[in-house]
Amino acid sequence: MEALHPDVDHMLFDKEEIAAVVRRMGADITRDYQGKDLVLIAVLRGAVVFMGDLMRAIECPLAIDFMAVSSYGEGAKSSGIVRIVKDLDMDIKGRDVLIVEDILDSGLTLRYLMKNLSSRHPASLEVATFLWKDVAGKQAAINPKYVGMHCPDDFVVGYGLDYAERYRNLPYIGVLKPEVYS
Ligand code: IMP
Ligand code: MG
Repeated sequence: MEALHPDVDHMLFDKEEIAAVVRRMGADITRDYQGKDLVLIAVLRGAVVFMGDLMRAIECPLAIDFMAVSSYGEGAKSSGIVRIVKDLDMDIKGRDVLIVEDILDSGLTLRYLMKNLSSRHPASLEVATFLWKDVAGKQAAINPKYVGMHCPDDFVVGYGLDYAERYRNLPYIGVLKPEVYS
């Protein structure tokens, strides 16, 4: 077990658990996308770590592209306001698009993205999210096809997830101490 960062209250998922979940998701996607024209689209910057692992766990041919949106600023709460900061380089018309996300919370970011991407007429459009904060009484604006782990409604960092651009490089996922962001 890794030593915990002093700003992390407790670990949620360690390296080995993460790797096992990525393998499972990769196998599911490999099975579902046989003979399709798969394009993985990662949402920068949080999803890059998961993207790097997931693409290597998928065994069918694929292309990758990236988008950057801003919705959170430096804070810890979703504003619901989404702006495309970097658009795709690729044309996705007629292709099988899978959006790769680090974490699904309100789903407002993804709802906006899916609406935007579906107007470009992909053959299919789905979401693979590593974490889903689908706690009781909270409903996400979209329904992801692939979910890695369910996660409590705490602010989590590591494995690509940040708070004010920090902690993305932690190899595990942990709950940030509330005093760090309050
Ligand atoms: P949503 O629009 O509320 O679903 O927010 C999704 C985005 O908010 C994610 O892609 C993350 O960038 C960010 N986010 C939501 N919850 C957390 C968290 O607990 N830690 C770090 N980032 C988060
Ligand atoms: Mg993000």
